Amino acid sequence: MASRKSIGIIGMGWVGSSVAISILHAGIANELLLHDIKTEIAEGEAMDLSHGSSFYPTARVRAASIDDMMNTDAIVIAAGRGGKPGETRLQLLNENVIIARDIALKLKNYQGIVVVVSNPVDVLTYFIQKFSGLPEARVIGTGTMLDTARLKEILGKTLDLDPRSVHAQVVGEHGDSEVVLWSGATVGGKELRSWPGWSQKKETLITEQVRTAAQEIIKRKGATNHAIGLVTATLLKWILRGERRIITLSRVQPDASGLGNVAISLPTIVGTDGATEILIPRMSDAEHEKLNASVEVIRKAIASVDQ
Ligand code: 2OP
Repeated sequence: MASRKSIGIIGMGWVGSSVAISILHAGIANELLLHDIKTEIAEGEAMDLSHGSSFYPTARVRAASIDDMMNTDAIVIAAGRGGKPGETRLQLLNENVIIARDIALKLKNYQGIVVVVSNPVDVLTYFIQKFSGLPEARVIGTGTMLDTARLKEILGKTLDLDPRSVHAQVVGEHGDSEVVLWSGATVGGKELRSWPGWSQKKETLITEQVRTAAQEIIKRKGATNHAIGLVTATLLKWILRGERRIITLSRVQPDASGLGNVAISLPTIVGTDGATEILIPRMSDAEHEKLNASVEVIRKAIASVDQ
């Protein structure tokens, strides 16, 4: 029999509810605990999702307190305000860091994996790790996993291929300073840059499309939720099954990385112990400089928080 898994979600707004339905469809949890500062929202979501239980693999869904989540295998933090049209993710920092600290302090003895989704995700991943004192590998931000997915989707459309057959990644901040690693992008073992018809102009255009993707959605519907819901559920699936996939995600980087004490996305191996091994990909000098600049953006944002 498959082992029983339990997952908690804190924050049941647009993102939390999309994470919940994606987890249920993926069949990765037998128990899903939902929490929101507004108790009735979590209760309503639990009722609504439970009524669909004939249509996803067997799972119980219920509203819960954060204390009730201490025996879960993973907790997703999706609490906090989302961005408004025209706002950068970093502009959410001062409000969301207060919420993140309150949650992190309750997680000091937690034994599972914490997945941070709220924005600005890198800075909040940093503070949640520091305030909770949990091991760095067990506090994971979804980071640029979503930007990498967006990049692959656009490249897939451009080349008329399935996005999974395109190997390209976005590293750095999940935000305006993110870095697309064009120099290492490959398709079927062939350098993307040697693909017929490939051009610098295409790279510039696609880089901008990936960077502004969330803004384009927020401008139209007020929030992004479905892609991040799928990203989060998929990340949880890979972690809880111990698949040791390599994905671009955010965590506090070890001192030895040379990046300093920030949380930022790099390709990382994930498994049951969390985000354990970080890989520094081959980069051109220009990409390296951009990554350092992205680290600097996060470092400044961390320093701006009055602790
Ligand atoms: C996204 O990229 C807003 O961070 C969220 O969809």
